[in-house]
Amino acid sequence: MTAHSLTQIPAQQLPVTSPLEDLSLLLAADMRSVNEVIMARMVSEVPMIPQLAGYLIAAGGKRMRPLMTLACAKLFVDEIGRAYGLAAAVEFIHTATLLHDDVVDESDQRRGQASANEIFGNQASVLVGDFLFSRAFELMVEGGSLEVLRILSRASAIIAEGEVLQLSLQNSLSTTLAQYERVIAAKTAALFAAACMVGPVIMGQGDELCRALYQYGHHVGMAFQIADDVLDYDSTTSDLGKSIGDDFKEGKITAPVIFAYQSAQENNDVEALDFWRKTIERREFEDASDLPHAHDLMVKSGALNHTMELAQDHVRRARAALDICPPSNLKSILLDLAEFSVSRRK
Ligand code: IPE
Ligand code: IPE
Ligand code: MG
Ligand code: MG
Repeated sequence: MTAHSLTQIPAQQLPVTSPLEDLSLLLAADMRSVNEVIMARMVSEVPMIPQLAGYLIAAGGKRMRPLMTLACAKLFVDEIGRAYGLAAAVEFIHTATLLHDDVVDESDQRRGQASANEIFGNQASVLVGDFLFSRAFELMVEGGSLEVLRILSRASAIIAEGEVLQLSLQNSLSTTLAQYERVIAAKTAALFAAACMVGPVIMGQGDELCRALYQYGHHVGMAFQIADDVLDYDSTTSDLGKSIGDDFKEGKITAPVIFAYQSAQENNDVEALDFWRKTIERREFEDASDLPHAHDLMVKSGALNHTMELAQDHVRRARAALDICPPSNLKSILLDLAEFSVSRRK
């Protein structure tokens, strides 16, 4: 679009940037350095490692967690070179969990292309995931802060626990909302929380601020995963970059399923109860209409609205956690980023 044509568009129709884009712009120079660390540290003399890791990393990804690490450091100090290695470590941990997650979930698409397990196979995906985890630990040790090492290594153990807990609850319609929240707090929110907390920690901020940013990251992560679990049922989602319906296919118990099943029980809706037992518990699928039917039941029972309210509650709590930080442009973007975690379509 030319500058001339832009002037002819009413202001309210001008393209609006997302807070993630705002953050990328504001932290562009810092993020370039983080990307350099990422590229430099995925090298190995075993060609399959850079091949597979490069395949996934080059496909992009939102880089949301390392951007949050940088932002949470820059809230306090302008020169944040010490955070680059940590931000790269955070993205490596995330990338490793994606490689493992796609094997476990048997997903065939990631970041808008065939998933690594689809191209290179399950064995290579698991092993390169392990390599990236290990590289993350090297980077953390090089960072020289035992406190940061403690926070991120704890988060890594919690993520693995979350994935295992999720596996053990799979196909069980008696899963409670509290159990679901425990799973997503572990598998997703723990890394967001740690990514945010290491910013102020590495910049030598006090306990209260570090804990506040941990809370901010935790609630953004919760909201992000709850919204992700809605997107997995939404057939209108076109640019998500990963296949939808994987949670349904696997019988993963997520908030939309819990609320829809609860509603069917309360209304003694025999047809809906049978449908959920047949699909989620027994994994018996009839045809391609099962997924839109599940979505339909979720809309009609109010389960999707209920789920989004749950996500919004975490958005509010994420924003409130930032009360302790003085006003700044960066703080405003982080406030908006909390909203973005539920409104995103990618
Ligand atoms: C995907 O995370 C995994 C979830 C926690 C749902 P992202 O949506 O941040 O993945 P990329 O890095 O942008 O691909
Ligand atoms: C998030 O769960 C997985 C990780 C934290 C690695 P999902 O299984 O919902 O993530 P997607 O939908 O595959 O990205
Ligand atoms: Mg998955
Ligand atoms: Mg998902």
